[in-house]
Amino acid sequence: MFVSFEGPEGAGKSTVLAEVATRLRATGRKVVTTREPGSGEFGMKIRELLLHGADMTPPAELFLFLADRAQHVATVIQPALNEGKLVLCDRYVDSTFVYQSVTRGLDPDFVSRANRFATDGLMPKTTILFDLDPEIGLARVTKKDRLDGQPLSFHKCVRQGFIDLAKCEPDRWVVIDASQSLGTVIDQVWDIVSRVSGA
Ligand code: TYD
Repeated sequence: MFVSFEGPEGAGKSTVLAEVATRLRATGRKVVTTREPGSGEFGMKIRELLLHGADMTPPAELFLFLADRAQHVATVIQPALNEGKLVLCDRYVDSTFVYQSVTRGLDPDFVSRANRFATDGLMPKTTILFDLDPEIGLARVTKKDRLDGQPLSFHKCVRQGFIDLAKCEPDRWVVIDASQSLGTVIDQVWDIVSRVSGA
């Protein structure tokens, strides 16, 4: 079972993902927590370039995210799914669609096809959107990387991009109001993940 966590900066995805994984493990479930970009040594090198390297063209940025994902799916996500584990992934194909196509303006059909190519068509069963006003989210981010440091208009576009994607595929997406207290968000995400995974 594969669940992805998506949303704008500072929405609390990583904290909630770690807490929900701990609760799931306490029920005896085998859980793999992972993230994009940056799983393993290969992914960490790409992450460094993407988040802390020099500025790059939108296509160069796209292909780096895709290279990270292709390796991540083949070496981490798909093997874990094959072993019957529950995979919780912090960002996946929807981040690429929203950041590199909706926001950077790259051709949506090409980005969708490239996502499918990099993942061999592997999609999450459920995607949780941590929806949050970017002004609140960015205020929570203390050390800004190359993408956090983009103008507010960029982050507003990211938020709207995710909302629009969630509307297009309501069977896969669940939208959470990430401005609620951390405890409330954790409880809501726990309800969703335990329901879809049968924990
Ligand atoms: P990260 O530090 O992992 O932040 P967050 O806690 O917001 O997930 O940074 C990942 C950054 O990379 C974030 O700004 C979103 C961006 N990103 C893309 O632009 N495209 C992608 O395909 C992915 C996976 C992430």
